[in-house]
Amino acid sequence: MDAPNLKTPLPGPKAKAIIERDGKVVSPSYTRDYPFVIARGAGATVEDVDGNVFLDCAAGIAVNSTGHAHPAVVAAIVDQAQKFLHMSGTDFYYEPQVRLGEDLAATAPMPAPVRTFFANSGTEANEAAIKLARYHSKRFGIIGFLGSFHGRTMGSLSLTSSRAIQRRGFGPMPGGTFHAPYANCYRCPVSATPETCAGECLSFIEDQILVHLISPDDVAAVLVEPIQGEGGYVVPPAVFHQRLRELTTKHGMLLMVDEVQSGMGRTGKMWAIEHFGVEPDVVTAAKGIASGLPLGVTIAKSDVMAWPPGAHASTFGGNPVSCAAAIATIGLLRESLVKNAAEVGAHLQDGLRALMDKHPIIGDVRGKGLMVGVELVRDRTTKERATTERNAVVDEAFRRGMLILGAGRNAVRFSPPLLLSKAQADTAVRIFDESLAAVTARA
Ligand SMILES: Cc1ncc(COP(=O)(O)O)c(C=O)c1O
Repeated sequence: MDAPNLKTPLPGPKAKAIIERDGKVVSPSYTRDYPFVIARGAGATVEDVDGNVFLDCAAGIAVNSTGHAHPAVVAAIVDQAQKFLHMSGTDFYYEPQVRLGEDLAATAPMPAPVRTFFANSGTEANEAAIKLARYHSKRFGIIGFLGSFHGRTMGSLSLTSSRAIQRRGFGPMPGGTFHAPYANCYRCPVSATPETCAGECLSFIEDQILVHLISPDDVAAVLVEPIQGEGGYVVPPAVFHQRLRELTTKHGMLLMVDEVQSGMGRTGKMWAIEHFGVEPDVVTAAKGIASGLPLGVTIAKSDVMAWPPGAHASTFGGNPVSCAAAIATIGLLRESLVKNAAEVGAHLQDGLRALMDKHPIIGDVRGKGLMVGVELVRDRTTKERATTERNAVVDEAFRRGMLILGAGRNAVRFSPPLLLSKAQADTAVRIFDESLAAVTARA
């Protein structure tokens, strides 16, 4: 499908009718930015129910890693579905789960041996990590970071601190969690400069949290996103993760990296943490791992994942069809898509950065591979956040045939399928350019 190709006003009549029905029966807690109703997808393009074709730079929130309905993934799903749909890895054995465990062990960003716990989603993968850290260490504390997103079930939510609305009305949170500032070089929380940064923001953990709030020997783990996703696609300096590794090792805490959004090839390496030269103790992944089927994994060093039968399990976790999709996904990532994410991601970033000359509203372009964020500001000196303008740009892009999403308070994220071509990246830049022009002309 050639994208974009718009045939009706948006939303079209069929989309309108479905959205109206949705409003009556579906939970209003979902955050829909614009009225897109999918009918089908192929590669990095999607068609809505009225026949309008869009370039997809959102990928179902960084999930459709191999593109929509990749033939190899669909074939693996059909093949497995014809054999058996479910048997519960909690009580029985099946080869697809073992095979996926082996594939993950072969790619894990820490030294072998490792083991994997299988869940259904990102938040469940993080719940498992939190429970594992407590079980393993017999300590209760977990340190996370401001602006982070780890999921919405109560354990993960207690570490999520992306937007107050996500916590509002649900307190009190489970105890034992603490938050430190994340290394955001564009808005450094401790006013350091990128040139001389030595990860000073981490002093907050050592000089404040571990002095005033919790003793180091009560802290089980630090949970961190290698690149902050929902928080605004924030890429920290390598020294941040390196110092964090030193700090956790020194105090006998686990370093747990949440790769739910950044993992599985998106950043041009299989795992984002590999960009920073750090080996974690635990990795969580979900989203792109099975190209769209529900799956979450918690990968840990074998001596850490040493809990007894009954300690943790899930009826559906590691569903055989999801495992088959994940095995096919990892095959495609290794074959070409990680490399493509690195190459096309660099091309996309170059194109977006070039727009800075004509659009003063662009304050920062950052990212790794095809995890790219653009922060919009009203003034490059004061860095006043252009939140309304950001929302308007996302909407304008939709009206011009491209799906993108916001991230953080005033950034736009590009998280397309990893098979995006350079020509499609150029189209994305062109539509973004036009959308920015339309919004700034209005101001
Ligand atoms: C870094 C990160 N962790 C965890 C989650 C939660 O994943 P899920 O929505 O599958 O529970 C998300 C979702 O956006 C995420 O970006």
